[in-house]
Amino acid sequence: MTATICGTGSYIPSYTMDNHDIARMVETSDEWIRERTGVVRRHIIREETTVSMAAKAARRALENADVLPEELDLILVSTISSNVILPCAACEVQREINAVNATCFDLSAACTGFVLAYNTALAYLAGGIYRTALVIGSESLSNLTNWKDRGTCILFGDGAGAAVLRADGGPETAAEDSGLEAGYYFPVTHSDGSKGSALTCKSRHDFNGLTDADRQGCPENMTDESHYMQMDGQAVFKFAVKRVPEVIEEVLALNRISTDEISYYILHQANKRIVEAVAKRLGEPIEKFPMNLQEYGNTSSASIPILLDEMNREARFAAGQKLVLAGFGAGLTWGASIVEWHR
Ligand code: UT7
Repeated sequence: MTATICGTGSYIPSYTMDNHDIARMVETSDEWIRERTGVVRRHIIREETTVSMAAKAARRALENADVLPEELDLILVSTISSNVILPCAACEVQREINAVNATCFDLSAACTGFVLAYNTALAYLAGGIYRTALVIGSESLSNLTNWKDRGTCILFGDGAGAAVLRADGGPETAAEDSGLEAGYYFPVTHSDGSKGSALTCKSRHDFNGLTDADRQGCPENMTDESHYMQMDGQAVFKFAVKRVPEVIEEVLALNRISTDEISYYILHQANKRIVEAVAKRLGEPIEKFPMNLQEYGNTSSASIPILLDEMNREARFAAGQKLVLAGFGAGLTWGASIVEWHR
């Protein structure tokens, strides 16, 4: 059995900060940011939260898929920036949209998170365990950004994207058949924890080493810079331009698909130069690599589903087309999946 994406949705906060706004906060310029990253502006939460954006993206995806909330068996939220720890963001979304029959949990894998959440949902559906799943990437990275650090604050933004996946075949098929068949594509994913120091963010709930006095007041280590994202930009850049083309080649070879059969590569939107380098290394035309990072910056696990939703709503996909989704980021983690479009 396999499953297909039957609807997408997204939510973007209306408040924006352009590069000139950033240049008033740190020593940088619109020109530098555009040239080195491609980012022009980013959308930042005001009233919104990771959960509220996820719920709005979810509603839009369900509407687009023509699926009722009660039909959902699974809600998976990929996030590193949830406003809630307990209950998980996925349970909060369930409550918001009234998806009473869904099993809900979160997944934390930074910018590879949506690809891993998609793979997880697909495995449940392909295995006949669930029939209908909602996969969401939602991030409020502005809360984790050190607005005094020009090495990171130029890059990130907030937003949410979602996709509804449905198992192919009738309910009786789901019960009887858990074999994989044509139309199921194996993903390829990797992790390298030994390189984790390239991109870090310490939890505000890490109380290790605090004194009793700290616990009663405002602990010093709760305000230090390690609670914001810290990045060795060059190391992450080099990792991405090497590993992303490799994993795309791996996933194509595993599924015996040639680059000619791929209509679009939907890459995590981290940096225009990374996307261009991946296209070049694969020997593929840049037109196959849609980008929207100029408008949103890097929204971590939300970037792939936001781009998917924009392209879906612009009717840029046709039934039968194959897409590659590829994520990469903190962990380090990276991975690629093939999606056959069926809407
Ligand atoms: O989601 C996945 C995780 N993140 C990423 O994928 C990000 C990957 N890395 C990057 O996108 C890039 O490394 C950055 C955009 C973060 C930085 O670009 P870069 O081309 O690697 O710049 P750099 O760190 O090598 O710095 C080049 C120069 C330095 O000056 P000198 O030493 O050449 O005089 C920096 O001090 O640019 C300077 N610089 C800046 N100048 C103006 C660094 N940041 C800035 C800035 N504005 N914001």
